[in-house]
Amino acid sequence: VKVGVSFNVNGKDVTLELDTRTTLLDALREHLHLTGSKKGCDQGQCGACTIIMDGRRINSCLSLAIMHDGAKITTIEGLGTPDKLHPMQAAFVKHDGYQCGYCTPGQICASVSVIEEIRAGMPSHVTADLNAKPQMTVEEIRERMSGNICRCGAYSNIIDAIKEVGG
Ligand code: FES
Repeated sequence: VKVGVSFNVNGKDVTLELDTRTTLLDALREHLHLTGSKKGCDQGQCGACTIIMDGRRINSCLSLAIMHDGAKITTIEGLGTPDKLHPMQAAFVKHDGYQCGYCTPGQICASVSVIEEIRAGMPSHVTADLNAKPQMTVEEIRERMSGNICRCGAYSNIIDAIKEVGG
């Protein structure tokens, strides 16, 4: 069954006719040709497909596109341009926060969200005290980024990049 679904993707309004089983990741990659978001596991385990939706990060492979009619979506293509990188993209370049680069779009989308989560005081699992104010510590960042896997093991450089942007 196909149904119409409309989103705002990277500032542009789009309407697609999609099979109800189409994941958001496939809608972005196959229908909108935004191939920055990557398909690693397609089962919510690697984070390569992370995008930002209505201000929160999600694994786009785990979500059906039709569930998000009216959503505001930002992918790596919407964060910056080659001439004007988003501060997080610039920090990843500066700190070599990648090797092969496959996980990088998801890592960057997650990183941007992590900083917003910490600044907004959203609790994480890193502390037993849920009333504790989240801090931009290595431990805190590591916990919040634990859903994004990097096979090359660039983790410490990724954390350096996040710390630089987060302060
Ligand atoms: Fe979505 Fe791996 S492709 S979490």
